[in-house]
Amino acid sequence: MGLFNKPFLNNSKNQNNSKPKGKVIAFINQKGGVGKTTMAFNTAYALSEKGHKVLCLDLDPQANLSLLFGVDTAESGDYSIHHLLINSVRELRALHVPLLCGELIVKDQKVHLLPAGQELSGFELSVAGINSPRQLVLKKFLEKNALLEQYDYIVVDCPPTLGLLVVNILCASDGVMVPFRPDEFSRKGLGHFYEALEDIGEMGVSDPPVVLAHIPNLVDARRKQEADDLAKITGELKEAFGNEKMVPPFFNRAQLVKGQAKKKSVFAFSGKDYKGLQEQFSQMATIVEEEWSHEH
Ligand SMILES: Nc1ncnc2c1ncn2[C@@H]1O[C@H](COP(=O)(O)OP(=O)(O)OP(=O)(O)O)[C@@H](O)[C@H]1O
Ligand SMILES: [Mg+2]
Repeated sequence: MGLFNKPFLNNSKNQNNSKPKGKVIAFINQKGGVGKTTMAFNTAYALSEKGHKVLCLDLDPQANLSLLFGVDTAESGDYSIHHLLINSVRELRALHVPLLCGELIVKDQKVHLLPAGQELSGFELSVAGINSPRQLVLKKFLEKNALLEQYDYIVVDCPPTLGLLVVNILCASDGVMVPFRPDEFSRKGLGHFYEALEDIGEMGVSDPPVVLAHIPNLVDARRKQEADDLAKITGELKEAFGNEKMVPPFFNRAQLVKGQAKKKSVFAFSGKDYKGLQEQFSQMATIVEEEWSHEH
């Protein structure tokens, strides 16, 4: 079996529901700095541009996505999604705080946000001793608060780890997007990710999410080694998932960094520099829409 050759990735969830519910899409890779936050933010806005109601969940203790929304819970001392997750576990009553989900959702922009805080780094320890399934805390939180009835898409930004928090995200997700840098380290890292995905399937507590796309990012195709590595990874992934699972590469683009410095998605700019990026993110939104189009 090849490095990426996993047989179960086309399972679709919620097949029997008559009324389509929202879908959870996670941007995931345990490697740091590959573009998870950048891709999550801009794809969330791309989905919103297409008329969908979108909620972003920042589940990274670094809270970079929250900062892109101008929210800094560390500075304000406010609550974060960590507190909502703990509140949703009855056994952890002693740690509960007076906070409702609706109170924490930041709604002042087109895309809504549940912000992260650095206390999320203690999530795994907090839930380590509970008797209810530790992998399903996030999934149950989304259900209890009927968030999939309120939003068409919930876009999750993951931390660069493969711990219990990310396992919770995988169990709660319908689809995953996998940004990666085209180098040899990333190739190995992707292998570990697919093992984690396979473990979810074997645990039997939840269907594993569909892999929606692999996104080569920060590509500098002028560098020979990089072009070779990209071709190698692309070849292996294509063999395992078929062409449609690989999107065209994102090159190293100053416009993305500039947009982030202004806390804006690429859709907030009208210059022709941004047109290509807008098209690329629209294409990602289309991939998401098309995956579940049969439910509408
Ligand atoms: N295509 C791109 N062109 C230029 N800069 C980019 C591109 N993609 C991402 N970046 C920049 O690279 C850095 C890392 O990106 P990002 O924060 O999205 O990665 P990440 O995977 O979320 O990192 P972490 O694992 O630490 O959460 C950021 O400064 C971002 O602005
Ligand atoms: Mg990030």
